[in-house]
Amino acid sequence: MKIAMIGCGYVGLVTGACFASFGFSVASVDTDESKIASLKAGGVPIYEPGLGELLERGTKLGLVSFTTDLAEAVRAADVIFVAVGTPSRRGDGHADLAYVFAAAEEIGRTMAAEPEGGYKVVVVKSTVPVGTGDEVERILARHVPAERYSVASNPEFLREGAAIEDFKRPDRVVVGVNDERAKEVMARVYRPLSLNQAPVFYTDRRTAELTKYAANAFLATKITFINEIADLCEATGANVQDVARGIGLDRRIGPKFLNAGPGYGGSCFPKDTQALIKTAQDFGAPIRIVETVASVNDQRKRAMAKKVVKALGGEIRGATIAVLGLTFKPNTDDMRDAPSLAIVQALKDMGAEVRAYDPEGMENARRMMEGVDFVTDPYDCAKDADAAVIVTEWDVLRALDLNLLKSSLKNPVLIDLRNVYEPGEMAARGYRYVPIGRPSVEA
Ligand code: UDX
Repeated sequence: MKIAMIGCGYVGLVTGACFASFGFSVASVDTDESKIASLKAGGVPIYEPGLGELLERGTKLGLVSFTTDLAEAVRAADVIFVAVGTPSRRGDGHADLAYVFAAAEEIGRTMAAEPEGGYKVVVVKSTVPVGTGDEVERILARHVPAERYSVASNPEFLREGAAIEDFKRPDRVVVGVNDERAKEVMARVYRPLSLNQAPVFYTDRRTAELTKYAANAFLATKITFINEIADLCEATGANVQDVARGIGLDRRIGPKFLNAGPGYGGSCFPKDTQALIKTAQDFGAPIRIVETVASVNDQRKRAMAKKVVKALGGEIRGATIAVLGLTFKPNTDDMRDAPSLAIVQALKDMGAEVRAYDPEGMENARRMMEGVDFVTDPYDCAKDADAAVIVTEWDVLRALDLNLLKSSLKNPVLIDLRNVYEPGEMAARGYRYVPIGRPSVEA
């Protein structure tokens, strides 16, 4: 089985490396020459645990290769995965499909130039609105006869930071095909996972495309629900972690994705909820619950800065705030739509000085935040600061030396937007501790 993986972004690299670990030959394609040169030299452009090792092994075995020559990779391939970016289109929130369509054009032209070439399945892995597979099919049809290709949808459910584990032990794989021929090829692609008892679920293409958005919108809703319950807990003196446990034990609800926090971020939830909202409006079937979720989540990020102001008695002008953790979640260097971006901006707008620390995200953060002092150690970050705020629950921030942190700070104030510490212990250690959805405590 020969695979062409178009796009060496997050999804393309992880998926390609994992397919190679099944023994398939994977040619990874990208238009970015410097990225391909660096990958060829053994570099890994993103932070993802285990990815470097997989790519190294695949390259040594001759199963992984990198190229900017899409045509060469397509000619050799039985299956072509399209894993290019689908960013939010500026202005209207729709997914921008320019890269997907450009890849389809080039695949079509390459196949047309090789009239004796065999049958190939083009699999759209990028997150795309319902009906995109039909459009890809129309593009290919302009170049090649229908019997030479099928178009499938195979949405991605990987979580950053746990992507390789998620690929190897998925809750499910969703495959959308409109013909038996494509289904047989996809069954061969996913046979190694089927043998490991992973459920591979087949449906039609449009349903698979929509399933991805529905999954992400549902999870975003679950998080936003518990975030608003957290606000109510704060107002009433209840404890959101116990509420989450209490409802999560109901198997119909389930315990996951019920951690209250500063709002969801990342490359998927904000973008995909927006795209679903737009698609639903276009089809005259608006999903009002998701519209509300997206707007509640946006407002929440800035509201977190107000929590800091309140913890400091109502004024932060001239104060120094230590922001601990910047990425949208731990184990990634990804800063896309990270709550920290809005929180830091709001703190600065209100006149505070911001000092920030993150174990992996500072390089990206530097490009996205202005007027912030970046520090490579959490205790230096807290030095003489009026308060510290935990925004991302990195392991190093879960296991801080609390005595050292306290002696570094000017005031022993810790605002914990990820509920990492226990209020009783924090009070005993002399902190003013302000968690999420649980009562604040004073020494
Ligand atoms: C998500 C989906 O989980 C994945 O299936 C999809 O393919 C891509 O989008 P990812 O963006 O990597 O994955 O991160 P995820 O772990 O889902 O977290 C997303 C955001 O939600 C983060 O900002 C995280 O901090 C937040 N979150 C998550 C919460 O605030 N509370 C929770 O209980 C869970």
